[in-house]
Amino acid sequence: MAGAARLICESVALQDAGRGVRFEIEYFGENVPAFVVRHRGSVVGYLNRCSHVASELDWQEGLFFDAEGRDLLCSTHGAVFAASSGQCLGGPCGGKPLTRLQVEERNGGVYYLGVADD
Ligand code: FES
Repeated sequence: MAGAARLICESVALQDAGRGVRFEIEYFGENVPAFVVRHRGSVVGYLNRCSHVASELDWQEGLFFDAEGRDLLCSTHGAVFAASSGQCLGGPCGGKPLTRLQVEERNGGVYYLGVADD
C-alpha cells in the first residue's frame, strides 16, 4: 500500500517518548486516524486504532506513551504495546499488534510512506 511520501511534521515536533503527532491516512477506502511518535531516537508510526476494539489509543490528543515513556498505552482498557514494533505486551489486546506504518525521517521532516506489509 505504499504510495508517494507525504510530509507529516517537522522532525523537531517529535521528542523522544513525548507527545505524538496525529494525522489521517486512507486505509481500505476510508480516512482513518494514525500517529507517529519518537522512540529511542527513531520515528515509528501506527494506525491510531487499538487491536482490542477499534478505538483511538491516546487519552489526550497526542499522548500515547505510558508514564515511564517506554510503551504505548491504550487509554480505553489499558492494552500495552511495544513502541518499537506495535507488538501487544499485555492487557486485552490478546496478542494482536497495532498496524504498523512505514515512515521515514529525512531532511528535518517526518514522512508517511504507506502501511507496512506485515
Ligand atoms: S480498546 Fe484498547 S484496550 Fe480495549
